[in-house]
Amino acid sequence: MQPFVFNTVPQLICRPGSALALAESCQRLGIRQPLLVTDPGLIGIGLVQPVQAALEAAGMPVVLYDQVREDPPEATVEAAAALGRAAGVDGVIALGGGSSMDVAKVVAALLAGSQPLQALYGVDQISGGRLPLILVPTTAGTGSEVTPVAVITTGETTKAGVSSAVLLPDVALLDADLTLGLPPRVTAMTGVDAMVHAIEAYTSKLKKNPVSDNLAREALRLLATHIRTAVSDGDNREARAAMLLGACLAGQAFANAPVAAVHALAYPLGGHYHIPHGLSNSLVLPAVLSYNMPAAEARYAELAEIVVPGITGSVSARASALVEALKQLIADVGLPATLADAGVPAADLPMLAADAMQQQRLLVNNPREVSEADALAIYRAAHGAGA
Ligand SMILES: NC(=O)c1ccc[n+]([C@@H]2O[C@H](COP(=O)([O-])OP(=O)(O)OC[C@H]3O[C@@H](n4cnc5c(N)ncnc54)[C@H](O)[C@@H]3O)[C@@H](O)[C@H]2O)c1
Ligand SMILES: [Fe+2]
Repeated sequence: MQPFVFNTVPQLICRPGSALALAESCQRLGIRQPLLVTDPGLIGIGLVQPVQAALEAAGMPVVLYDQVREDPPEATVEAAAALGRAAGVDGVIALGGGSSMDVAKVVAALLAGSQPLQALYGVDQISGGRLPLILVPTTAGTGSEVTPVAVITTGETTKAGVSSAVLLPDVALLDADLTLGLPPRVTAMTGVDAMVHAIEAYTSKLKKNPVSDNLAREALRLLATHIRTAVSDGDNREARAAMLLGACLAGQAFANAPVAAVHALAYPLGGHYHIPHGLSNSLVLPAVLSYNMPAAEARYAELAEIVVPGITGSVSARASALVEALKQLIADVGLPATLADAGVPAADLPMLAADAMQQQRLLVNNPREVSEADALAIYRAAHGAGA
């Protein structure tokens, strides 16, 4: 067996309604005055107020930063950190999707140390520790609550990652009740993102290991089984709980066995057209898997048995069935099938392929090597419409 290292959070709380008991976790961690990081949409639907009220009823004055923007820019991080610093907070809680969680992670590091934000980008650059940190996801997608990564938008089309074990929170708290109001489209996009995390972790070239494999398989089982119900019947508690746990398990998997070409080719779509992260992944997923076949067929055949229970046939037939089943799933949850459907001009594909080559950090994990010409061929296949 290959030697491996596996890191995750020290505590995972998975219980509907548990966000209303956040004060218990704060007390355990010695937090008396938390910074609560969230976004205006969640304030608008009334998701944050009961959580804030419960903390305050337990004697914890909350400092609220509720201006997180999607794909958070540096200005959001700086503003949240400035608010927390001025108030003298002693812990950070995120309530939201990947955007709020990523902001909270970086802010917790900024408030504990003296480094400027720009010094944190890259791998293992945080030197000053962080404040106590609790992450509460309200989307079932990024798995950011259990990853050592925060993604910050640094320019018009560019993002940068802060990657450090310091960013793993003290507590990841999964309260599926928070996700009941997630709109169908966001449920679909974030759910497919989580499925991609599981699939790419399972075929990750360098660091996949028995623990990440098991997490990826169970994540994919939960997500593939429940995504349609979560999209069509958002109030279904069982489906919501399965999606939230599935996304978290997929997060634990890819935090240790990193994602690859699907994400590498998805990032330029987010950068240039502001296509949401999950949809970007969904748009290139079938074409990347087809490209990877020569190197990953056996693994895909194993995953087919999870996504299409009872499937039989040769390895190559089962692997192809996985790709077909995912195309069907993408259609069933209402997402566009091709880059053309998503409005990406065919003339842009060479530029996107050149951009994707910047993602070597991810491409090294792909089971099959991807050149710029390969990336262009994949984008053409994903484009449909005669690109
Ligand atoms: N840190 C990581 O490991 C990691 C991994 C993948 C992606 N990301 C980052 O995460 C971000 C995307 O996160 P996301 O997909 O979770 O979305 P998000 O946090 O950007 O939120 C998207 C929208 O959904 C709304 N929303 C969230 N929860 C809701 C709920 N329960 N009910 C109703 N509306 C709700 C929000 O108000 C927001 O408008 C990107 O910035 C991406 O780069 C981080
Ligand atoms: Fe992702």
